[in-house]
Amino acid sequence: MDFKVADLSLAAFGRKEIQLAEHEMPGLMAVRKEYAAVQPLRGAKIMGSLHMTIQTAVLIETLVALGAEVRWVSCNIFSTQDHAAAAVVVGPNGTVDNPQGVPVFAWKGETLEEYWWCTEQALIWPGDEGPNMILDDGGDATLLVHKGAEYEKAGAVPSAGEGDPEEWHVIIDLLSRTVGPEKRWSKIAERIKGVTEETTTGVHRLYEMHKNGQLLFPAINVNDSVTKSKFDNKYGCRHSVIDGLNRATDVLIGGKVAVVAGYGDVGKGCADALRGQGARVIVTEIDPICALQAAMDGFQVTTLDEVVGIADIFVSTTGNFDVITADHMSKMKHQAIVSNIGHFDNEIDMAGLAKVPGIVKEEVKPQVHTWTFPDGHSIIVLAEGRLMNLGCATGHPSFVMSNSFTNQVIAQIELFTKTDEYAIGVHVLPKHLDEKVARLHLDALGIKLTTLTKAQAEYIGVDVEGPYKPDHYRY
Ligand code: NAI
Repeated sequence: MDFKVADLSLAAFGRKEIQLAEHEMPGLMAVRKEYAAVQPLRGAKIMGSLHMTIQTAVLIETLVALGAEVRWVSCNIFSTQDHAAAAVVVGPNGTVDNPQGVPVFAWKGETLEEYWWCTEQALIWPGDEGPNMILDDGGDATLLVHKGAEYEKAGAVPSAGEGDPEEWHVIIDLLSRTVGPEKRWSKIAERIKGVTEETTTGVHRLYEMHKNGQLLFPAINVNDSVTKSKFDNKYGCRHSVIDGLNRATDVLIGGKVAVVAGYGDVGKGCADALRGQGARVIVTEIDPICALQAAMDGFQVTTLDEVVGIADIFVSTTGNFDVITADHMSKMKHQAIVSNIGHFDNEIDMAGLAKVPGIVKEEVKPQVHTWTFPDGHSIIVLAEGRLMNLGCATGHPSFVMSNSFTNQVIAQIELFTKTDEYAIGVHVLPKHLDEKVARLHLDALGIKLTTLTKAQAEYIGVDVEGPYKPDHYRY
């Protein structure tokens, strides 16, 4: 088996944590049981690009339990948990000397070159076959396949997209070495039945590609399942934003002024968590609806420029770029903490920060750096501007990820087994499946659901068995 991880000897520790996580992931374990005999993913060759954590290990082993062959990479250079990666490679029945699990190409602290090399490795299947499904988080695997196919079709270097020019250089360089007359990337694109996308940023990319007529295969937007974005993005970040701050700095949050940029699902979770710790939280927004929501929830809402000099902690949650600029950072208080929990690192202008004349960067510990300005004041930047909850801590806890990943497994089954029903485009899972995901998590929390009487169901115009809300309902 080909693979590349940091240290296989960590597998035993990883396996113990996987076993603990399985108990906290009732949705995934129920799906394993429900489909064990049917094996709906037999024949599926799934290339996964999603943070290689303990929770993801339970997802991977669920896909395998349903019949899939899988190859995996992380979707961020800092988010791999090396013991999880090792345990997945060794597998539940293998040993360090005889690994029998899933090929993983991921370790914590990859360079950009290594990151894209890993993505390429997971897209190359032994025997010159490619994957027939992608499970993506942020859209990097989907992007590589599309850009490769575009390169081969046009016979010319594709245009660089949004984001770090240095990273685009790495991508184009990789493609230049791998495009050729055998049309490898076009063949991979042709074989793929579909992609299931985990996060807001990846979904945004998919809609853009479809709008521009560039999308080559159907996609399921897992992010906008209610049991994903209203849970993982909100309650997951409510947990892991504090975890990231604590593990990185251990600064007391109570009494501090914290700025949360963006009040979408992630911002709501972060603002709530920081307030829970006793911080005085200020929100910035560009959308009047979200701004009003934040105000009604009791937060001061103003612009970053207004408060940049008084805040102690900054958390960017927008999925946008250049939200916190080098100019902002130059005006911050000494030892202000600057962090991003959105998907890509360009929310904070790290490139601009590095170009400030005379600035000095020093490592406190991995993923925690001070940047000292020529006037002597410094700021603390977490995870080099990348998502801090996965860079500085271990991301979301298992229970919330069970909701997200149960959606992922159901979406993979949908696209793989009902390919003809999904035209090229971006689809969401039907509401009855969303409700099913929630239902699978009720028992574990001792939740007792009220059952509608037939008359009540008729009165509100739904079935006793659901779905209980129209598609446009917002929760
Ligand atoms: P969302 O679209 O619900 O929220 C983003 C909010 O930011 C919106 O309300 C938007 O109006 C606001 N915004 C945009 N530009 C802004 C600016 N310049 N200043 C202030 N506000 C601005 O998206 P969601 O679901 O909250 O996701 C946000 C990001 O977090 C995405 O990149 C997503 O992929 C990522 N994400 C990260 C997770 C993690 O574990 N780190 C988990 C889930 C999502």
